[in-house]
Amino acid sequence: MCIEIRDNTLYFDGCDTTDLARTYGTPLYVYSQTALEDRFRALHTEFLDKWPNTRAAYAAKALCTPALLRLVRDAGLCVDVVSGGELTCALAAGFPPERIEFNGNNKLPAELELAVERGVGRIILDGLQELPLLESICARKGKKMKVLYRVTPGVRADTHDYIITGKKDSKFGIPLDEDILYPAVQAAIDSPWVDLLGFHFHVGSQLFEVRPYLEALEVVLGLVEESWKRFGYAMTELNVGGGFGIRYTDEAPRGYGWYLDPIMARVEAFFRDLGLPRPAVVTEPGRSVVGEAGLTLYTVGSIKEIPGARKYVAVDGGMTDNIRPALYQAKYRAIAANKAEEPCAETVTVCGKCCESGDILLRDAALPALEGGDLLAVLSTGAYGYAMASNYNSNPIPAVVLVKEGRSGLMVRRQTWEDLLATARDPAL
Ligand code: LLP
Repeated sequence: MCIEIRDNTLYFDGCDTTDLARTYGTPLYVYSQTALEDRFRALHTEFLDKWPNTRAAYAAKALCTPALLRLVRDAGLCVDVVSGGELTCALAAGFPPERIEFNGNNKLPAELELAVERGVGRIILDGLQELPLLESICARKGKKMKVLYRVTPGVRADTHDYIITGKKDSKFGIPLDEDILYPAVQAAIDSPWVDLLGFHFHVGSQLFEVRPYLEALEVVLGLVEESWKRFGYAMTELNVGGGFGIRYTDEAPRGYGWYLDPIMARVEAFFRDLGLPRPAVVTEPGRSVVGEAGLTLYTVGSIKEIPGARKYVAVDGGMTDNIRPALYQAKYRAIAANKAEEPCAETVTVCGKCCESGDILLRDAALPALEGGDLLAVLSTGAYGYAMASNYNSNPIPAVVLVKEGRSGLMVRRQTWEDLLATARDPAL
């Protein structure tokens, strides 16, 4: 395990977190390379090595830095990007373009241009207008692209409403209505500029059930069968998205096989019955790769005891480095990194420094008696933390550090106040 407590101090992948705070400052995002490598290995042993003709495309939206994507690349995974920025990062990380898959619900012409120019491996078409747009770019560049259609399977998953993506009323994917979907399939089959490989779905995020996956799968297999009957079109690839849940507080995460084995069993049986070869199956895990591999270190500042209400412990970051509690009421657990063996005698609310009363990181957290200067570690912040950081209140975005077996190095340096002015201009009208 990468988290250890020794001499009243929290260690992460062999590094004393109080040393990390002194060296790099706080707030600080810290990632354990050992923990990341464990997750890469789990994807191999529980999915890729078990089932031939499968791929895992790490969903870069969970954490996207060149150093991280280099590790992903070296682990033999593919990467799923959703913007020109993520695509540029993957290319900068030396990702072979054919291992890049391009998702997103409103890909901009300039983003598609870059994707076609560099020859990404897959473009997941998310709307009806994307095909003609892509075709025009391909025609201009004389390149043919491999595509999948992302469909909205109309399945509700049990997770926060903002992170459900597969229900019918969704901005993602193509709805299943006959008169919308099949003409789109026909157009892609007929197009000289794209090679339609199959379908993609993604049901939601932070899921602890297989049911929504299997329900969505059933819907998509229905489309496969119908496309075979109508057009004699046999799909060669099926992308089942990501969404595997992690531990924030007391959740009990399941292995990749727990979700993917039943999916694979059903896919194999279905294609066997249909008399067609089983397509390649792709998954797109994001959170489950980086979430528990990261923590955030904060320095405690002001402490306010509101009689009859609560005790607020303010830290030097907040919703700018972790928007998830404010946006999704997400819950986390924290450790007093320099008082790690002291009894959790107090119940406090940990808040940030933003001018926003919703800027709360943890409510009613059991922690030792804290004072200014103490170091607080919030665990499992590795996914959608740095990735969703903002400069609200002109707070600089913290540094991101990678640690491994007692060694550490910067993945992203801390923004400075001057950085915040770098893009500003004075139009002086
Ligand atoms: N594939 C697609 C098409 C997706 O839309 C997503 C996530 C993933 C893969 C990766 O899902 P994961 O394995 O990370 O659950 N900001 C939210 C999560 C938004 C997820 C959006 N799509 C949060 O902080 O909870």
